[in-house]
Amino acid sequence: MAAGFVSLLILASVLMSLQTSLAVVIPAQIVVALLLAMAGVHVSALLHDAIPSAIRTMGNPTPRSAESVADGMAHFADHCAVCHGNDGSGDTEMGRGLYPKAPDMRLDTTQQLSDGDLFYIIEHGIRFTGMPGWRTGTTAGEESSWHLVHFIRHLPTLTPAELDSMKARNPRSPEDIRFEIEEERFLNEGAQK
Ligand code: HEC
Repeated sequence: MAAGFVSLLILASVLMSLQTSLAVVIPAQIVVALLLAMAGVHVSALLHDAIPSAIRTMGNPTPRSAESVADGMAHFADHCAVCHGNDGSGDTEMGRGLYPKAPDMRLDTTQQLSDGDLFYIIEHGIRFTGMPGWRTGTTAGEESSWHLVHFIRHLPTLTPAELDSMKARNPRSPEDIRFEIEEERFLNEGAQK
């Protein structure tokens, strides 16, 4: 793995120098990201090096509390679950269909990232992947990202009751809404007879 990684890095620098000397059209970074994804490298593990160390090593400035976890949970159900699943498993139609896939965030690969890493990833996203950045540039926005960090830490011990409460907060698809309207109309018609 390490040797493969070093050779990829060498390849990367060769590509980048090629780009400058020969004005190759394809941006070298895209080629490198694709090569890494093909090699199965966890892209955010690499991104680790790009995260400013001051952020990477900082702890969560928002105290962990039931309210903070609940805030993160509501936000996660609304914005993140389409790809990551309410339980963080990544086992969703969207999460599985992305390349690289949405990871199982309950596992060590994610849980071992520092609070600062998680915060940075949430704020800035991960380049060349389906993971969008959610930064709003406001203090309130940063605070909600820190709540999300608390919630991600809570994922490995999520309870069935919490999962249920999240389902009620998941965005509904147009089909779901149409089905509910039909159902209501049917019930109303039944009541009128
Ligand atoms: C459109 C799909 C999508 C949405 C919506 C999304 N993510 Fe992601 N996310 C991904 C993908 C894909 C990855 C994996 C990228 C990679 O392998 O580098 C990822 C990675 C991450 C990671 C890094 C985990 C790790 O182990 O490297 C964190 C943390 C994360 N997402 C948090 C969130 C949060 C919090 C939200 C909601 C505010 C969110 N994501 C919304 C697709 C999504």
